[in-house]
Order: sequence, then structure tokens, then C-alpha cells
Amino acid sequence: MKLKDKVAIVTGGASGIGRATAILFAREGAAVVVADIDAAGAASAAEEIVASGGRAVPVTADVSDDDDCARIVATATDTFGHLHVLFNNAGIIRRADALGITVAEWDLVMAVNVRSVFLMCRHAIPAMTSGGAIVNTGSGWGLKGGGNALSYCASKAAVVNMTRALAIDHAKAGIRVNSVNPGDTDTPMLREEARQLSEKWTAFAADAADRPMGRAGSPDEIARAVLFLASEDASYITGSALVVDGGGLA
Ligand code: NAI
Repeated sequence: MKLKDKVAIVTGGASGIGRATAILFAREGAAVVVADIDAAGAASAAEEIVASGGRAVPVTADVSDDDDCARIVATATDTFGHLHVLFNNAGIIRRADALGITVAEWDLVMAVNVRSVFLMCRHAIPAMTSGGAIVNTGSGWGLKGGGNALSYCASKAAVVNMTRALAIDHAKAGIRVNSVNPGDTDTPMLREEARQLSEKWTAFAADAADRPMGRAGSPDEIARAVLFLASEDASYITGSALVVDGGGLA
């Protein structure tokens, strides 16, 4: 068990990568706070964990809101007594270039993808009194850019560099901070994108031209990388950007 007796927060834990990671963390021994703006999804993820013998509690919260972030952290410490692991995973995408995105949508993407990392860290770090690990979700597009998603690319690049800055600032407190950078991963977010782009998912997922391994990743494949970064297996890794994309950046 790689997270035995640890307490973890997973934001965006109702769906996709976050849900898979919350379930894996619990299987590896962690008590998990499943935080999401989707109340029913957070509750069902927590129920699934408890039904299989794990420990979890749901929190309905908007990670772009400072008070909500404080409440997520307080739920971890009040319910489970401590905090060791934070997975900042909640995120949104808007498919638009500089001419297509509205100022309000730009601000929303930045608030949910970037401000949330700052807010969650500022509440979680003081609670990690015996050290800890933070994993932030970047994206392959935060490292190499991508078409028709200007705000998303900017937000994920910010997450990658914030990760380095956080790692330097909090290393002496025994807190490691890394980013996981998925390529296309088969989650509701990607399926919705494919629908908006009027592409059939099957064609999109099977497009070997963009995918050296000939397929998109699964949420579990990202979750296992997050578990590695969150666990003692990564004890000398901080500030790094781990790419999990089946060779897409190669
Ligand atoms: P998803 O849409 O399946 O799950 C995202 C979760 O975040 C949802 O449960 C949603 O309700 C929650 N969420 C959204 N806004 C929130 C807010 N303001 N407060 C709290 N929760 C909120 O998406 P997926 O694919 O699992 O994405 C997870 C992360 O991985 C995101 O940061 C995304 O940008 C990133 N990512 C995903 C890739 C993919 O191909 N699916 C590729 C690269 C990065």
C-alpha cells in the first residue's frame, strides 16, 4: 500500500482522471476527500470507495472560490485529522482562439485551472504539518501548445511553472510539488470536446496519426502516474513535469 494511513484531497474527483485517482488512492490506503462542483458525482465517487471498504468523504465545492478551497482543506483535517496529499486536478477547457474566446470565458478558464491551484495550495500547505506531496494537473498542451484552445494552453503552462515555483518555496518544509501532464485521455471532457468538434469519438480515439501508440490514454493510466508522484517512490522528485501521453510529445 503506497498511501497507507495518508489523507488525500482530490479536486475534480467526480469524473474522469480525478475519479480514477481518488479510487486508486483509496485502494492504496489513503482516506480521500473527493471535492467537486458536481455534488452528485462527488457523492457517488465517495460512495464507491466506501462500498469497497475504503475511506472517503465528498465535498461540493468550486475550486475557483477561496472560501470553498478553505472548506475542502478543513474537511480533510476535521474528518481525518491530517493532510498529506493534494491532487489539484479540477479543470475545464474552452475550444476557441484569440478571436473566438470572450473575456468572461478567458477569466473563467484561468480561475478554474490556475487560481484554484494557488488557492488550494495556500490552504493545504499549512495543514501539511509533517510534509506532503502536491500533484498539479498540467497538460501536454501546457508544454507544447495546441490549436484553438488559447486560454487552456495559457492556463496549463501557468500550472507547470507554478509547480516549479511552489516546489522551490516549500521544499524545506518537506513538501514535494510536481505536475502530471496527460495527453488525450478518454474521459467525459475529451468526449465532449470530440462532440463539439463534430468528430465521431471512435475516429477521434483511433486516430493513430497523432498518437504514436495508436490510442488515447485511460484515466487509470494517468492515476497510476499521479500515485507515483504522490507516494514515497518519488521521494527525491520535486518541481518536475511528468508527461503521460503515449509518446505524443516525442
Ligand atoms: P472531466 O471533465 O471528466 O473531469 C473534471 C472534473 O472537474 C469534473 O468532475 C468537473 O465537475 C470538475 N470541475 C470542473 N470545474 C470545477 C470547479 N470550478 N470546481 C470543482 N470542480 C470542478 O475531465 P478530465 O479529462 O478528467 O480532466 C481532469 C484534468 O485533466 C483537467 O485539469 C484537465 O484539463 C486535465 N487534462 C485532461 C486531458 C484529457 O484528454 N482528458 C488531457 C490533459 C489534461
